[in-house]
Amino acid sequence: MIIGIPREIKNNEYRVGLLPVHCEALRRAGHTVLVEHHAGIGSGATDADYKAAGAKLVSNAWRADMVVKVKEPQPVEIHKMRPGQVVFTYFHFAADRQLFEDVLRSGSVAIAYETIQLPDGTLPLLTPMSEIAGRMAVHQGAKYLEEPMQGRGLLLAGVPGVAPAKVVIIGGGVVGANAAKMAAGLGADVTILEISLPRLRYLDDIMPPNVNTLFSDRHTIREQLRRADLVIGAVLIPGARAPHLVTAEDLTRMKPGAVIIDVCIDQGGCCETSRPTTHADPTYVVDGIVHYCVTNMPGAVGRTSTYALCNVTFPYVMRLATLGLEGACARDPGLVAAVNIHAGRITNRAVAETFGLPFTPFTPC
Ligand SMILES: NC(=O)c1ccc[n+]([C@@H]2O[C@H](COP(=O)([O-])OP(=O)(O)OC[C@H]3O[C@@H](n4cnc5c(N)ncnc54)[C@H](O)[C@@H]3O)[C@@H](O)[C@H]2O)c1
Repeated sequence: MIIGIPREIKNNEYRVGLLPVHCEALRRAGHTVLVEHHAGIGSGATDADYKAAGAKLVSNAWRADMVVKVKEPQPVEIHKMRPGQVVFTYFHFAADRQLFEDVLRSGSVAIAYETIQLPDGTLPLLTPMSEIAGRMAVHQGAKYLEEPMQGRGLLLAGVPGVAPAKVVIIGGGVVGANAAKMAAGLGADVTILEISLPRLRYLDDIMPPNVNTLFSDRHTIREQLRRADLVIGAVLIPGARAPHLVTAEDLTRMKPGAVIIDVCIDQGGCCETSRPTTHADPTYVVDGIVHYCVTNMPGAVGRTSTYALCNVTFPYVMRLATLGLEGACARDPGLVAAVNIHAGRITNRAVAETFGLPFTPFTPC
């Protein structure tokens, strides 16, 4: 198979779909890998490294049978997609109807990293990026709480004799748990709101004493928002748009200069006033509350993120390349669910429900 690795063109995106080590393994397995010039620079891999690994350097990797990338195709890339071509990347369709419609029209096969599911319900290709985004959310929150950044002028950790900041995390999954560990490590006063009782029990067992857990309901969220200095939005309903758990009205009752890091913005965000931002211009202020809504947070730490991402994507890439789409899916029901679009049909139930369109299951022969 011919596998293409484009250079990511989303704003401040420094990750790349595969590293030279993976290109070498694919080449040894008899495949051809096309890598766009400078695709790996942000992750520390030079063109010479890819060449030495046996990849072919090209100006357009979209002529491949399968394209492996990181972020959702940008408009200029969608024009290069063609019927039957497999595109393996993060899509997050539920948050972007235009993207969904354009990809559907392209006739390509969209396999979305974020919807590959293991039998225990976990999302292995989302996990490493969520670990990174959760940890980064606390760095970013600490930075935007500073007064020159329009924040409340608070040090997350406090100092002896001065209280630490109060961090409220909505959603106690991978992002939430990683954010809680970081914030707790800095000495903040942390609360996690979650709807899953087993998850609340688990978090209660493993978290340090400065982390409290609360069941997430409307009253508790409202009460916690009033006290929060930093709010981290970390909910997920797989394949669906994030629910608006923080309303525009809630902001008026929050402390001026408080910060919301809406990590789940890639699924639409859990705050009504959230809208996607970029690393170039990451924040804006509504009713005195600083909003940070960058959709590709891990993109800013390309070296860490690319290695963490490829560790989990590469086994799927190798199987898709070697067995083909049908063969790889026949062996792995978790991959079948991740085929979001196939032959102009919507093959992921949650995506179909989000847009109120018919769902057609993908059944590998
Ligand atoms: N912005 C970025 O760069 C970036 C990077 C990585 C992940 N993300 C996003 O972060 C979000 C969270 O990812 P994750 O891996 O932690 O998901 P996860 O599935 O591990 O955790 C989500 C948690 O939210 C909980 N939840 C659902 N509804 C809730 C509610 N009403 N109140 C409280 N909790 C609720 C679920 O029970 C679950 O534990 C996703 O939308 C993901 O796409 C964004």
